[in-house]
This record gives sequence, structure tokens and C-alpha cells, in this order.
Amino acid sequence: MANEVRSILAQMTLDEKIALACGRDFWRTKSIERLSIPQVMMCDGPHGLRKQKGQGDHLGINESIETVCYPSASALAASFDVEVMAKLGEALGTECQAEDVGMLLGPGINMKRSPLCGRNFEYFSEDPYLAGKLAAAYIRALQEKGVSACVKHFAANNQETLRMSGDSRMSERTLFETYLPAFEAAVKEGGTRSIMCAYNAINGEFCANNKTLLTEILRERWGFDGFVVTDWGAGKDAAKGVKAGLDLNMPGGNEGVCAAIKAACEAGELSEADIDRMAGNMVRFALDYRDKRRPDTAIDREKCAALSGSLAAECAVLLKNDGLLPLKKDSRVAFIGEFAASPRYQGSGSSHINTKNMISALDAAKEYSVSYAQGYVARDSKTDEALLREAVEAAGTADVAVVFAGLPDSFESEGFDRESLAMPANQNELIEAVAAANPNTVVVLHGGAPMLTEWISKVKAVLCMYLGGQSVGKAAVELLYGEKNPSGKLAETWPKKLSDNPAYLNFPGTEGVVDYAEGVFIGYRYYDKKEMDVSFPFGYGLSYTNFAYSDLRLDRSEMTDQDALTVTCKVKNTGSVAGKEVMQLYVRNAACDTARPLRELRSFTKVELRPGEEKEVSFTLSARAFAYYEEKIHDFFVPSGVYGVEIGASSRDIRLDAEISVNGTVELPYVYTLTSTVGSLLKTAKGRALFERMMAGMQQSKEMDGTDALGEGGAEMARRMMMEMPLGSLATFGSVPMEQIQGMLAMLNS
Ligand code: BGC
Repeated sequence: MANEVRSILAQMTLDEKIALACGRDFWRTKSIERLSIPQVMMCDGPHGLRKQKGQGDHLGINESIETVCYPSASALAASFDVEVMAKLGEALGTECQAEDVGMLLGPGINMKRSPLCGRNFEYFSEDPYLAGKLAAAYIRALQEKGVSACVKHFAANNQETLRMSGDSRMSERTLFETYLPAFEAAVKEGGTRSIMCAYNAINGEFCANNKTLLTEILRERWGFDGFVVTDWGAGKDAAKGVKAGLDLNMPGGNEGVCAAIKAACEAGELSEADIDRMAGNMVRFALDYRDKRRPDTAIDREKCAALSGSLAAECAVLLKNDGLLPLKKDSRVAFIGEFAASPRYQGSGSSHINTKNMISALDAAKEYSVSYAQGYVARDSKTDEALLREAVEAAGTADVAVVFAGLPDSFESEGFDRESLAMPANQNELIEAVAAANPNTVVVLHGGAPMLTEWISKVKAVLCMYLGGQSVGKAAVELLYGEKNPSGKLAETWPKKLSDNPAYLNFPGTEGVVDYAEGVFIGYRYYDKKEMDVSFPFGYGLSYTNFAYSDLRLDRSEMTDQDALTVTCKVKNTGSVAGKEVMQLYVRNAACDTARPLRELRSFTKVELRPGEEKEVSFTLSARAFAYYEEKIHDFFVPSGVYGVEIGASSRDIRLDAEISVNGTVELPYVYTLTSTVGSLLKTAKGRALFERMMAGMQQSKEMDGTDALGEGGAEMARRMMMEMPLGSLATFGSVPMEQIQGMLAMLNS
């Protein structure tokens, strides 16, 4: 294809090339008929097709085709399952082919810095590794069907307040270690053909004009060879955008973009090479679409609806179970709460899917003995006394009460952030009242993000369905009655209170400036390091069976940062029903000078086991699993030390643990000055050699003048004082002439 692109570029006029920098209309790129370059349609994403045939909009307001709504990202991530992502990617790819959509705008892979971000339901996790792996699986499967993915929103677009204009300010380490790795995986492992640059700025430069981001990092460092599109309306200075690495401005129809680029060409600010890069990327995209187009693809939406339901069941997280679940098939059960009849199954905004085939839990429970009471009005936070009374009555006469509750649309959405973690007051009151009337109360939660569950000690079980797509009610019933076994795990920590969140003091920022002062310590990286009590930890989720972990083995006890480590262990289903367990591998970081999280997720896998069955699982870790981003070398760096390899059922439930000694082969540059301490000599090879000589000399003089007579504590005190002594002070304290110290510094820094 490269030749064809080159040959087409050679035939194009400058105006034709520039024309490709802006779309034709709200959803399509431009065609150039003379050269048989087709137009390409794109649409939202990410958990279904929001294909608009009429008036386009980016808020999910105008009509779009009627189709299937799958679980949203926060639900999908709880599956911890790359197979789930692949099934979804494949289904969406097929549907895009059937609908002649060449690119799907997703997945959204921004980090969950704060649980208040109104759009968290559209993002995967607080963990960049997990988000990256899930995204890569989705992208590969979608693109396998010949449809481009478009990962968004690149980058650091982690809140809705001032989402179109804010400036996310953070250290280089924070950017590379926390906010970029999921995108890096989407590029390197997923091979995404497109990336959507975010509205916001990073460290003072808007993403659409950010050359560091769009060229140096994306293309030069990661080898991205696709095209960059603006988020809808994120374009700023069009010419600067091209220079920075931006290819396409959307929505289309804004000819001012092309005029500005043309003027910049005429003024010599943009070169032919800049324009050719941009136009070449767009031509390649169009030809790729042409070559992979399968117009005879059919879509079976009934099958897709069934898939949506089965994925939803894989995503649900059982948060509590005092043995009440699964429900007995012949129990008299009261379903209580508006969400039982009309669940919240997707979020609002650009991802909003038009579906008429929602299945509620009430619809799905027809074969069971179930009664219903509405309990509350979802769009209201005030208690409706009559509905409350009716619900309490229903609960009192049933064997079990199941309250369907959670966050209504008005509590979380694209476009605005949440104000608190609380659920609506009327729902909390209802749960308390129902639990008081019936000790056998279960709560089913719908919502895209963590909530406060203040009533939890009063109920026997809690099942979180997140926003599980159109068939979420069916999945909930299957799980409640044990037709399926819950296997989801939280991809985000549920804190005890909002003020515990590490971003709390700096969210949503001041006058558009958001200081990411917590650095790399977001999510469990913060809560675990602080040993803070949380409601539910990262990676947590229960099952109707139990799993025993054993036989952790590492294929070596020592390695360098050039080696790979193979880790194996066994997991056994020790209960009486089949189930799936998510095996999480965390690396516990070695002690080093740089502040690092206690442990970090570095691998995971989901294993299906029949009762009594045991399987061996294996993980491979490369140097990156031990690395942090070191600003001195502008790269990832592995400090030498002893690391822990932990297999856990959550970040707080480590079941197996082994140690590995890792030797880093990279030495960090270090500039010695008069204020560098004696201890800092240990940081470099030259310094260590000098240190050894100094220590040998000191030992000799101690032996001669008998200062060894200091007691054990005194000797340790003297050693520590010595380590903290600035090199320059060696002169002050008389032992070493200043010229000799200067000579040492010259040697060390040479
Ligand atoms: C959203 C994107 C979306 C685009 C098109 C924007 O407002 O941020 O995620 O893809 O609109 O609808």
C-alpha cells in the first residue's frame, strides 16, 4: 500500500492534500473522486454503534440507528478478561462492516484519577496496565474485522469539569508512568490505526497542538503509524496542529481549517513534508478502508443481544455475600426499586446507544416467584412515602428482598462531574427500611463508578452490575439465582470516603489548571501505600465457589533487566460449583531512593474451573514489570534490589509470595557536588570504588587510635552520620584537604 499512497500523493494538488485535514461533515472524511479516494464514515463507540444518519451531534442527543447496547467500559474492565474484550471487538467490527462504518470511536482509556469524573463509566480502570491490556484485545479484534479503532482521549483527559479547556499539569514521570501506558499498549500491542487527541492541555500545551505528545512520544517513541484525529471540536491552531502531528480535524465542514493550513504553507510555516505526512496518513486510512470493506456482511442483532447479556454476566462483581446468594429457585422474592423494572444500563453523552430491546430483571425473572414494588422514583432524590411503604410491605411478606438501586443518569454523565460518592438519599433510605423489614435483603447496584454503601452491614449480599448494557437485567437474574457464577473483580478501588481519594485536594482544579500533585499514586497505588482502609480494594470480587492458590514458582531467583521471568502457580476450585477466578500478579517494589507504589499489577489471567479442578497458570514478566519512569534518563529504569512476586485475589489479598533479586544494568547519571553526601557515592560505580577505599582507610585509622571502643549503637550512629556527611564537609572536619576533594569530584564526574 505504501507505493500506492506515494503514487496518489504525487498526483494530488496542494489544495487536495490540505482538504483532507478536515472532514466532509459531522462523521465523514472527504473523498477525492478523481483519485478514487473514498470517504469514510466513523461513529461512536465505544460499547455499541451510535451511527447517525440525520443530524449529527457529539452529545448523544439526535437520533441514531437502533442497535445493541453492550456493557460500558467500567463494567467490561471488571471482567478482567481479554476474551470478553475480543468478543466485543469482533461483534462491533462485524456490525461496523454491516453498517459501512470504517472507524469506531473507542475504546476510551483514560485513567480513573478521581471517582468523581462523570465519564468514568466510559473508561476502564485506575490501573494503566489493566486498561492497556483490555484495550489492546478490543482493538485487535475490532481491526481484525477490517474496521479501525480510535483510542481516546489522548491524553490526561480525566475529568469533565473544563474538559474542553483545562490544563492537566503533571511531572514527566507521572505522565509516562500513569497516564500514557494504556495508550502505549493500544499502539504497540493493539496496533490501533487511529488515536483521538483530547480537548485539554498538558503542561500548558493543548493536546491538538502538542508536538511532544503527537510526534515525539506517539510516533517517534512508540512507532505509531496511523492517523491522529481531534476529539470533536478539539482542534485549536490548525497549522500548529499539522506541525505537531495532527492529521484530521473533526467534525468536518469547517473550511477555516483548510484556509489556515494553506496560509501557513504560503508563509513557509508548514513544509511540503508536513502536508504530505498528514495527507499520506489520511489517504492510507481511506485505502485501508477500501481494501478491508466487506459490503456483504450481515449482522444478527438477536445474537448480539444475547452476547451483550452473556458479557454482562462476566462483568458483575459480587461485593458481599453472607450466604444468601444464590437465591433458592422456589423462594418468594420481592424485587424492589425502579431499576428492577427499568435498569440504568448505559451512560449519557456521546456513547449513548439507541436500543429498544432492554431486558429488565423483572422481565427476566418470569419463571421465578417474584413480586415487584417500585420503592423510589429514580430521577428524584426525595423519598416518596407511599412507594416506600409499599416496598416495606412487599419486603416483609417475602422470603428475600432484592433492592435494585444505584446512580441515576443525573448523578453521572459525560459533560459534568459527580458532586459526591453518595447514592440518592431516597434509595439509601429505602434500603435501610427494606433491610429492617426483612433480614434477608440483597442489593443489586447499577452505576458506572464507585458509590458509598453506608447500609452494607444491614444487608446480606451486594451484587454490582455496573452499567451492564441492554441485557443487564437478564444477567442479574442469572447471577442472583446461581444459573451463572459471578467472576468480576473491581478494576478500581471503592474508597470509604471521597476525601480519602488522592486527587481530592486537586480535583477539579482551580481556574482550569489541574495539578496532578499526587503523581503516580492514584488508586490502589495510593491506598495500599498509605495502608488506608477502603470499602472494596482493587481486584476484589467474590464467587459462589472458593479457590485455593498454591505452588508458586519462579524460573530463577536472580535476573537482570535484560531477562524475562516466568512465574507459575496453581489454582484449584475447592467449592461445589463451577467458577472463574482472576489470578492477579503484583510486583512488590524493591526499596529504592525514588518513592514507588508498594505493589503494582503486572499481569493477570482469568481461569475457568469445574468443582475440584486444578490448573497451572503461567505469567511472563519483562524488565518493565520492575521499572519506574526515571526523569534523569527520560526512560523506564529498573533499580537493583529484591522484588516480591505476589499472586493475589485483590491488591489486599495476596495469597502467594516469592522473591526475585533483580540487577539493573543501567547506571543513572549522577553529578557530584560539594553537597553530595558520602552515602551518595554508592549510586555510581566510580563512587562505590572511592567509598570502599575511604572505608578501608577509616577502618585502618580506627584500629590505630582505638575509636572502635564506641559501643555497638555508637558505631552505627557514627556510620550513619558519616553517610549523611556532605563531601565538602570532609574538609571542614579536617580529615581531607579541599584540593583533594575537588580532585575527587573531578574524577567522579569525568
Ligand atoms: C467526545 C468523544 C466522542 C466525540 C464524537 C466528544 O464530545 O469527547 O468521545 O467520540 O464527541 O461524538
